[in-house]
Amino acid sequence: MCVVEEKRINLQPVPLADEDWQYVKKRTLDEYDAADWAIWSSQRQQYFEQNKCDQVLRMLECQKDDLSYIYTINNYYHCLQTATRMLRADCTEEDVVVGLLHDIGFITCNETHGEFAAALMRPYVSERNHWMLVHHAVFQQFHCHNLQGCDRHARDRWRGHPHFEWTAEFVAKYDQNTISYDEEILPLDAFKPMVSRILSREPSLQYDQPL
Ligand SMILES: [Fe+2]
Ligand SMILES: [Fe+2]
Repeated sequence: MCVVEEKRINLQPVPLADEDWQYVKKRTLDEYDAADWAIWSSQRQQYFEQNKCDQVLRMLECQKDDLSYIYTINNYYHCLQTATRMLRADCTEEDVVVGLLHDIGFITCNETHGEFAAALMRPYVSERNHWMLVHHAVFQQFHCHNLQGCDRHARDRWRGHPHFEWTAEFVAKYDQNTISYDEEILPLDAFKPMVSRILSREPSLQYDQPL
């Protein structure tokens, strides 16, 4: 049995994000009627539009002061270095944003962090970038020489796939080599307008997830 020290929270209504909005003070969704759902639909959409970008960036920003386990930079600065280098290489805005967020879940769900970023970005990016995000960690193994138990050629199972070359290029140019502090990088704020524009795209699930 799980024992929890009893400390009650006296919860108050959380303020609404907009002074013109209204609560629906019903205790279950079962009780919502058509008028309630109309309010839900309107306020929810605006809320997501206003908060999505900031919340995604906060997921990255909360890693800013993390310590390192080997590299001279942490995961936060690795992501910024990847995005900075892609921007300077004249990659598209979508590619830069995907680069910025490719390791957003690296610490919290390391084994599946590619799928984590891919799930986050899937409604807003091309299948090419979604596929790259899902597979980039396996492609990175190619650059891990002399690492015991690592199959450097694990990526070869996808050789000939339409997105193989882009994934290999991303990892080679912008991922496996962005682990060092001695390179000028742009701050997170510099990328915020780009992230906002990409996440403001009409969401679409137009392609199947690769298995
Ligand atoms: Fe990664
Ligand atoms: Fe990475």
